[in-house]
Amino acid sequence: MTKEIPQATFRLEHGFAVKPDLAVDAGPGNAILVGRVTGGDEVEAIYLGKQAETPYRNVWLDTRAAHVLYVMGKRRSGKSYTLGVIAEGLVAQGWTRQGSSSQGVLILDTMNVFLTMPFVAMDTYPENSAEMRDLRKWQIAQEELPIRLFRPAGTSVPVGVETREISLRPSDLGSDEWCGLFEVDPFADPLGHLITELHGKVAIDGYTDSRTGTPVAANWMFDIQDLLNAIDFDPDLQRYHRDTREALRRRLVSIRRLPVFSGQGLDVTDLLVPGQVSILLLRDLDQQLRATLVALIVRQIMHLRGVAEHEERIGAVHVARAAKLADSDPTAAAAERTLADQAAARAKRGLPRAWIIIDEAHNYVPAIGVTPSRKPLKKYVDEGRNLGLSIVVATQNPAGLDPSLQRNADVLLVHSLSRHDDIAAAEGMINTAAPTEVILDTRNKFEGAKSFESLVRNLPLGYALAATDRANRLFPVRIRPRITVHGGGEY
Ligand SMILES: Nc1ncnc2c1ncn2[C@@H]1O[C@H](COP(=O)(O)OP(=O)(O)OP(=O)(O)O)[C@@H](O)[C@H]1O
Ligand SMILES: [Mg+2]
Repeated sequence: MTKEIPQATFRLEHGFAVKPDLAVDAGPGNAILVGRVTGGDEVEAIYLGKQAETPYRNVWLDTRAAHVLYVMGKRRSGKSYTLGVIAEGLVAQGWTRQGSSSQGVLILDTMNVFLTMPFVAMDTYPENSAEMRDLRKWQIAQEELPIRLFRPAGTSVPVGVETREISLRPSDLGSDEWCGLFEVDPFADPLGHLITELHGKVAIDGYTDSRTGTPVAANWMFDIQDLLNAIDFDPDLQRYHRDTREALRRRLVSIRRLPVFSGQGLDVTDLLVPGQVSILLLRDLDQQLRATLVALIVRQIMHLRGVAEHEERIGAVHVARAAKLADSDPTAAAAERTLADQAAARAKRGLPRAWIIIDEAHNYVPAIGVTPSRKPLKKYVDEGRNLGLSIVVATQNPAGLDPSLQRNADVLLVHSLSRHDDIAAAEGMINTAAPTEVILDTRNKFEGAKSFESLVRNLPLGYALAATDRANRLFPVRIRPRITVHGGGEY
């Protein structure tokens, strides 16, 4: 399915002249396609913006393959805006999305920047505003987009903003997450040992109540009271020092008061719906709780997507066999079709292909420190691509993000940076050459070994450098204007 792409021609505010000439994959209508994979004819891609150098081609991001995309830039350089452009594109009906696949999109919104995203520009800004003029100039299709807000139980949003609530059951957390939530090391800290053993007894093995001598069965739907009972009445756990047990007891009691633990368990199938953007507003949660919630979401997504992906692959085999047998053995072909339908139905109960978009990602996968979300997110980045799962991370602090994420990124968008160690981190990740010479606005010339540093320091707002291993060098992109209202604060 190809949608007609308008020939919008206009002058960008800033232009670059870059050497050597760019060699990169071609996308829809003689444009640039970033992240292309070989094989298959249909182009599936979303529109990012325009190449900010002659010949000012359109720049598209492939969505047929799964990607790890890394967006970085200093404060107020346009990172969140760019994340919004990507999310819009993934669910757009207009020409900004090419291809027929429809994936789920989840934005983990650390600072509630995306609170205003359900509102579209055309219903909000005056016709003569800069935003509307830009959209007309770029001929961006105006449309309502399926965007839903979610908030953790106990947090609030302004009156009139429609949100759905999500909550956790204590039993959603495994021993890793309990340790992460309480910031204790499961191996080095006695409190960590106690948590691991306690969780095993309550959720998996069961134990004997020392008061009555009766067995307490394992309960995988346990609540906090079940944990507290076992701390007091399991004979084995009494060997932990009284202070250790008391420390855990106090922490569990304080957790019991948190509204986010309110009975209804987490179900990520609500959050990932094909063709819909779900925004999870995380700002008002405490940092450890936020990371715990993200850990659980990412784990569930990997698990459920894994189930669906198996069914999809088996289903494809049955479809192929049905086609092959159609003439020679119609009965066997019909049986194969039934198997294919059943596999498709089971796949639907799992999760669709999806994109997770994480703003302020250094909170969840920091270079140093214990964080419950680190392990599941690293696994997602390492293995998600095999399941058709993509991820976009944005950070103002590339030097502070776990290096394994940097190694796995296949596409980078670098907004303006100013701190030397961040520039060095960015340069270390780039999987293609820096230009040998760049002239910005016919005035500023950067060349030689420092060309990347000078270029990235001088990038204007709205511009980014794109890097992919399928291009011979970095190239500048003017990011397209947004269809929805961007809520970055002006403080
Ligand atoms: N492509 C763009 N076109 C027009 N305006 C933009 C663009 N990108 C960003 N802006 C504007 O610049 C400001 C900062 O953008 P944004 O909030 O995306 O920055 P950020 O890098 O996420 O900042 P922070 O580090 O504070 O989160 C916003 O007011 C936004 O509207
Ligand atoms: Mg931001």
